[in-house]
Amino acid sequence: MAPTTGLQDVSTRAGGAKSGRPLHVAIIMDGNGRWAKRRNLPRVLGHRAGVNALKRTVEGAAALGVGVMTVFGFSTENWSRPPQEVSELMGLLKAYLESDIDRLAREGVKVRIIGRRTGLAADVLAVIERAESRTSHNDAFLLQVAFNYGGRADIADAARAFAEAVERGEARAADLDEALFERHLSTAGAPAPDVIVRTSGEQRISNFLLWECAYAELVYQDVLWPDYGPEHLAAALTEYRSRDRRYGGIAVDDVAVAG
Ligand code: IPE
Ligand code: IPE
Ligand code: MG
Repeated sequence: MAPTTGLQDVSTRAGGAKSGRPLHVAIIMDGNGRWAKRRNLPRVLGHRAGVNALKRTVEGAAALGVGVMTVFGFSTENWSRPPQEVSELMGLLKAYLESDIDRLAREGVKVRIIGRRTGLAADVLAVIERAESRTSHNDAFLLQVAFNYGGRADIADAARAFAEAVERGEARAADLDEALFERHLSTAGAPAPDVIVRTSGEQRISNFLLWECAYAELVYQDVLWPDYGPEHLAAALTEYRSRDRRYGGIAVDDVAVAG
């Protein structure tokens, strides 16, 4: 058996069975528009097919060893799309939560919507609040839906919240460190993502989980989101598990020869 060293801890910091910490997969669900375009369909039909892909993928995730999933549904920049498309995306979030919340609740899934609440219509907010309160005591799986979410907005909001706490005399600037700052992000309490998957072949982060992605492995898959399912997630996880996460240290294999 290998000796216990500080560096060995590094190798087990990866989420998953060995670490005792749930494996967190975050997905930038991209390519709905192109999927529809290839079929000469309106973009909204691509988004509807995308919801089915989300249902399939969430359904298969736990069996693949995933404990936390964060999916990017609507970015703070997506407001710049045509109003009809924006309104379709709002409606789809509402419909998804309404149709699936009973089953998700029964299966022990805790649902959390991360992102800015301002700007969302009252009916959408009501469904979000109901979904969160119905599942708040669950702990078998955490599903975070990033909606009206932007990484920069979330960091700015966290900074403002901390500054307000200082103004109220409830916090001291000198006490601010990474752990305290994280508590003000909308992902507070969830582990950082181990792997961020982006579909559709695009290779960029598009303002997703900017703080949280610090040591995430990035996996880009050349499949349009509406075609996605558990088999693609399994392939992404195989790729993730082949990576050597070093966290600024040295490779586990090199520890013995490091001197
Ligand atoms: C992802 O698909 C869904 C959202 C961003 C809401 P897109 O709508 O971005 O699809 P493409 O990138 O145009 O193909
Ligand atoms: C990122 O995709 C946002 C979501 C998947 C919800 P976009 O399609 O909006 O990103 P860009 O514009 O290609 O960078
Ligand atoms: Mg896109």
